[in-house]
Amino acid sequence: MAEIYAVINQKGGVAKSTTAQILGNAIRHKGHSVLFIDLDPQGNLTYGMGIDTPDAGIYEVLTKRKRALDTITTTEQGDVLASTPSLTMIEHELQNELGKEYRLKEALDTLSARYDYIIIDTPPSLSTLSINALTSANKVIIPTQTDIYSIQGLAQLSQTIETVRKYTNDALEVAGILITRYDKRTILTQQLTEMLENTASMINSKVFDARIREAIAVKEAQAMRDDLLTYAPKANVTADYLAFIDELGIK
Ligand SMILES: Nc1ncnc2c1ncn2[C@@H]1O[C@H](COP(=O)(O)OP(=O)(O)OP(=O)(O)O)[C@@H](O)[C@H]1O
Ligand SMILES: [Mg+2]
Repeated sequence: MAEIYAVINQKGGVAKSTTAQILGNAIRHKGHSVLFIDLDPQGNLTYGMGIDTPDAGIYEVLTKRKRALDTITTTEQGDVLASTPSLTMIEHELQNELGKEYRLKEALDTLSARYDYIIIDTPPSLSTLSINALTSANKVIIPTQTDIYSIQGLAQLSQTIETVRKYTNDALEVAGILITRYDKRTILTQQLTEMLENTASMINSKVFDARIREAIAVKEAQAMRDDLLTYAPKANVTADYLAFIDELGIK
């Protein structure tokens, strides 16, 4: 059965898609099989994986128009259940459906035996899509930047995680909070550090020791639609992501 990671934060631009892609790429470099799921209508992960206009994607799966297995797009960077523009309509389409929180979980149950890992990228909102991600996942990774608004936003996210644990996924674990886009001029004051650690402990989790540095190589690899580990194997930011994956305990 696959280990399922959801990369989530309702705050925009905190490196969710970047982290989902590099995490999956790095796991593949270790020799494991990975399925990527792009739950964000913006489709950044889909684009980054080199997919232009998929015929169908996760929208068709969540609305039961297609079986998950028949909807996978295969790329050089791995298998993807892609985002398509229709995904913006999902909230409206599922609004009166009982059990709408379980649509992704039901789909992944049919695929879980085929992959070692499933990585879910999520949109910058707390919506039906994010609840589906949290309901399907075994583990959550929360990328964050170290500014006050980002850290305040984590309190709301931790409440959502508690609610999901109560109603739809009592086994949900938070692997940790990952500091991203870190640069040496970032002032991680004592107060911000304490806020981060308090939030982590509220959800029985931790802040990863690994911090992902701000690096141009990330943007370059994305512009080339390449895998960071292949594009810049020696970059500091690649080493940061590898240290993070070690902390996750992925061998
Ligand atoms: N370590 C990094 N160094 C430099 N730029 C980065 C790094 N991580 C992410 N970025 C850049 O930051 C921007 C936001 O990253 P990304 O799209 O992964 O965030 P997101 O949380 O998925 O955003 P959204 O909420 O819109 O989905 C992108 O332009 C990306 O290239
Ligand atoms: Mg994104």
